Formats: sequence, C-alpha cells, structure tokens
Amino acid sequence: MKTYLVTGGAGFIGSNFIHYMFGKYGKDIRIINVDSLTYAGNLENLSGIEEKYDYGFVKADIRDREAIRKVFKENDIDYVVNFAAESHVDRSIENPEIFVETNVLGTLVMLNAAKEAWETEDGYKEGKRFLHVSTDEVYGSLDDPEDYFYEDTPYSPHSPYSASKASSDFLVKAYVDTYKFPAVITNCSNNYGPYQFPEKLIPLMINNALHGKELPVYGDGKNVRDWLYVDDHCKGIDMVLKGGRIGEKYNIGGHNEKENIEIIHIILDTLKEILPDSDERKKNISEDLIRHVTDRKGHDRRYAIAPDKIRKELSWEPETRFEEGIRKTIEWYLSHEEWMAHVTSGDYQSYYEKMYAGR
Ligand code: NAD
Ligand code: TYD
Repeated sequence: MKTYLVTGGAGFIGSNFIHYMFGKYGKDIRIINVDSLTYAGNLENLSGIEEKYDYGFVKADIRDREAIRKVFKENDIDYVVNFAAESHVDRSIENPEIFVETNVLGTLVMLNAAKEAWETEDGYKEGKRFLHVSTDEVYGSLDDPEDYFYEDTPYSPHSPYSASKASSDFLVKAYVDTYKFPAVITNCSNNYGPYQFPEKLIPLMINNALHGKELPVYGDGKNVRDWLYVDDHCKGIDMVLKGGRIGEKYNIGGHNEKENIEIIHIILDTLKEILPDSDERKKNISEDLIRHVTDRKGHDRRYAIAPDKIRKELSWEPETRFEEGIRKTIEWYLSHEEWMAHVTSGDYQSYYEKMYAGR
C-alpha cells in the first residue's frame, strides 16, 4: 500500500488527480492532501472522497517548514506529487511576490522535508519518489510554427509565474544533482476540464457567456495554447511517478494547438448546440459578447509540446480528443452552477473588475 502526499490537492489539477488515482487504484492507495486553501483551493472539489477511500486532508501551507515536517513524521510517505502553486499569469503580473514565496520557497520546503524523511546513511529509502508538477511556460514562447518544446529546450520564462516555476524546476534538478535526491519533473501544456477556477480562459468564457457578460480577448486573440484534457495529464503524472527515470524531466501534451479566438468560438457553438431552447441562458449566447481588450503584458505567443519522450519511454498517449473533452467540460460547468456560484463569491468580483478595468 503506497502513501501519496499530494500538495495543492484542492485546486484544479490536484483534485482531478486525486479523483483519477482513487478511480484507478481504489482502496489500494492512501492519499494525504496538503493544501492551504487559497482562493483557488476548494474542498468541495473532493466531496465524498473521504467516506469512500483512504484519504486525509491537512490544511497547511507548503512554506510552513514545521507543518510539512510533521506530515512526514506522522506518515510514511512513498510519493510526493507537488501541485501546490500560485498558477495564474495575470495575478503574477499584479503581485509577483507570492509567486516566488509559494512556488520557489514552498517547493524548497517540500524538497527539504522529503529529503530529511527519506535519507539514509547510504542513499535514500527504497522506492521513494518526488514528482514536481511544472508547466511548458518555462520554455518561453515559440515563433517558428514548426517549432516545439522538447525537454532540452532552454528555459526562457517571461512572466513572473513562469519565472517562479522555472526557478522551482531548477531547485528540484539541483537536489537531484547535488544530493542524488529521487525526483522527477513533468512539464505539461495548458489543461482544461472540471473544477478549473474561472479566472482561466476556458471556464471564464463558459461562465461569462452563460451570464451574457463580455468575453475579453487579449490582443488579437491569435495566441496559441496546446490544450490537454486534465485526466490525460493525471495519467502522465501517474506513469512518470511509477516508470520515469530519476533526475529526468518529461513533457506532457497532446498536440492540440488552438488560437484563443478559436477556443471561444468552439465554446459558443457548443453551448448553442447543447442548451435546449427552453433554457433561459441560451438567449445570452452570442458572438456579440466577444470584445478585444488590451493585450496581457509580456504575452507569450505560442506554446506547443513535443511529447515524444513520454510516448517513447512510457507509452503515454492522450485518450480524450479535444472535441470530446471540451463537450464534457462544458456539460460539467452547465450542471455545476452551484459550484460556480461558490467559487465566484468572496473576492472574485473585485478581482475580475480590477483585471478588466480600463482594458
Ligand atoms: P490551482 O491554482 O487551481 O490550484 C493550486 C492549489 O494549490 C490550490 O488548491 C491552492 O489552495 C493550493 N496552494 C496555493 N498556495 C499554496 C501554499 N502556499 N501551500 C499549500 N497549498 C497552496 O492550480 P492548477 O491549475 O491546479 O495547477 C496545479 C499545478 O500544475 C501548478 O503547479 C501549476 O504550475 C501546474 N500546471 C498547471 C497547468 C494548467 O493548465 N492549469 C498546466 C501545467 C502545469
Ligand atoms: P490562461 O487560461 O490564463 O492560461 P495561460 O496564460 O497560463 O496560458 O490563458 C490562456 C490564453 O488565453 C492566454 O493566451 C491568455 C488568453 N486569455 C484571454 O484572451 N482572455 C482572458 O480573459 C484570459 C483569462 C486569458
């Protein structure tokens, strides 16, 4: 029976990972979720899990050395999956400090606590693994449409978010090189799916369209992101944890590049198709809601992952085609209005107004 310490498990990908892992391994695994519950963390994402599976929640900040050490002292952790992070580029432009604190210093605390718990006189306890979840944004932006991000593409982050993630990746690599620490890194492209906070492109556009609110497109809307259904990312993480080579990094992405404006049209078309005429919300759905606003500062033009290594070494393949994934995602949001109402209460409205004021 393996024990997983998942950080940031109440967020978008972390909660999907916990669902994915219990769905796959059931009662054969134990998961401890450590999350400080920032605006992006929501325990509703995991409701029902505790009763069915071997699951525990610890409300703690990954920057809190003593709290994290305590989790390792009280539990024999086999795997760490480090999701906890500040994850939104726009917020990092407004307030970079918290990104360095959580993403860099928090990762350092996690590395030190795991190292202390796992180190023996002649190396590390058998089978222990630390997987650091990172992003393709560390590689910067691609100009040549034929170019892709490979594992050896030089890091060239442009936003405070991607710079903080790049720093954390370097720290993980430094622990491998200096201390022979048993870590691996994954760099994934943009995820979409259930439980994503509506500050990110896809849930923001779905939510705004349903409420007849403007759809703010940054710049010309032709920036390209490489979208992956969140379960395919979770599958990749599971495979890298079990079969990835220590000290290596693995890019995860499904060759699904789309311009932002194309995504918005797909969302509008799908909403029109799915919603019955009797649904009041259907009246709101219109291309007229699209509004081009001032571009994001330092906006990366194109991200695109070459997933050759994870395919070749671990036989990872994405399972959800975009057409199917986006439909499932939209259907999920349509049937989770209460979830949306909860996550957009609190300071969401003031955040939103600040972000779009005068753009
Ligand atoms: P998210 O913002 O939805 O969730 C982050 C979670 O971390 C939240 O539950 C939050 O409460 C928690 N958290 C934040 N600061 C914390 C702290 N100091 N201590 C403990 N918990 C803290 O993020 P996400 O989109 O699920 O991303 C998860 C990870 O995956 C991040 O490391 C991100 O860089 C990476 N990633 C995300 C994407 C994407 O498209 N969303 C793509 C590639 C990689
Ligand atoms: P986002 O979901 O914030 O992810 P990331 O910046 O990490 O890739 O944004 C995805 C793309 O959509 C990015 O090019 C910025 C753009 N975007 C908009 O045009 N309007 C919006 O309101 C948001 C949130 C993003």
